[in-house]
Amino acid sequence: MTLNREKPKVIVVGTGGFGKNHVRVLAELGGLGGVCDIDVEKASTYGRLYNVPYYSSVSEIPENVYDGAVVSTPTFTHKEVALQLILKNFKYLLIEKPFTRDLREAFEIINQARRERVKLMVGFIERFNPAVSMVKNYVAEGAVGEIIMASATRVRRWPERITDLGVLLDTAIHDIDLMRHVFSEDPLKVYAKVGRSMHRIHEDYATLILTFKAEKMAIIQANWLTPFKIRSLEIIGSEGVIEADLVSQQVTLSSKDDRITPFSEWSEPLRHELKHFLECIVNGSNPSPGEEDAVKALAIVESSFKSSETGNVVNIVTQPF
Ligand SMILES: NC(=O)c1ccc[n+]([C@@H]2O[C@H](COP(=O)([O-])OP(=O)(O)OC[C@H]3O[C@@H](n4cnc5c(N)ncnc54)[C@H](O)[C@@H]3O)[C@@H](O)[C@H]2O)c1
Repeated sequence: MTLNREKPKVIVVGTGGFGKNHVRVLAELGGLGGVCDIDVEKASTYGRLYNVPYYSSVSEIPENVYDGAVVSTPTFTHKEVALQLILKNFKYLLIEKPFTRDLREAFEIINQARRERVKLMVGFIERFNPAVSMVKNYVAEGAVGEIIMASATRVRRWPERITDLGVLLDTAIHDIDLMRHVFSEDPLKVYAKVGRSMHRIHEDYATLILTFKAEKMAIIQANWLTPFKIRSLEIIGSEGVIEADLVSQQVTLSSKDDRITPFSEWSEPLRHELKHFLECIVNGSNPSPGEEDAVKALAIVESSFKSSETGNVVNIVTQPF
């Protein structure tokens, strides 16, 4: 296999709970070039299933064969895996969310990527949820007037395989990014409270209040305690309300005199995300969400932890990009 930007081939590193979805969808899109997992059973299973080369360590992946890589290993390994791939001359990396455990690690990747002209994408998959695209379009066309506030809920039972981080960094970060996306601006301050109930080490419930310019605000609730799954987003504007169920992808628009739920066919957000990644490789363009979005979300997470520890409202400071 040789590099061919017209038909890019991507390797998936980490074929566990979520990585196996990257493998399947990339195969469906014709962009799967190989798989890598330190669990050789998994690597060989997916390599054989999709008839692609497989490796049981990043060090075995050959240079200048793949056009890009998806990093879907546990978050604590992202930095090490990404740096290894950059050393191997990879020019496009899609790194799963959260990009890294903290800002320090994120900048280690970003600085090295800039030196080597590597384009980075972060796996904030909800941006590719058709329900979110519909919300974003309604907001942009003024269907609910000026946004006043928004709220997001993301709850389920603790997925016990996640041991390296808590619900704020793992789960609420999706909605932190969504709020930046929907408001089209960065929050200025955060007040947050996190707590631990069942998880052995990390927080498993969190509530955040983000404030934006002109007293606009967003409330984010996330937990790993609720025995069923809810992922919802609500936008309250001066002229109406948008409610989005991010699981069923159903969106309802309400105004003073009307309430409509337009039909839209369900489609897999990961397919849209990976299509975008492949298209960027073909066009040589910068993927979005990219490193700036990764860093800004992490900065909000770090400010939220600080707020929860101190009981204070915290100003969110991010480095200029
Ligand atoms: N975008 C989303 O909605 C979404 C959903 C779930 C998980 N994720 C993210 O995806 C990443 C993986 O999560 P998961 O739930 O699939 O984890 P997982 O533990 O189920 O799978 C991780 C896999 O990576 C392999 N691995 C570990 N270290 C490796 C290394 N150095 N090289 C190669 N393989 C290695 C493991 O053997 C395992 O198969 C995490 O960052 C997580 O936050 C994102």
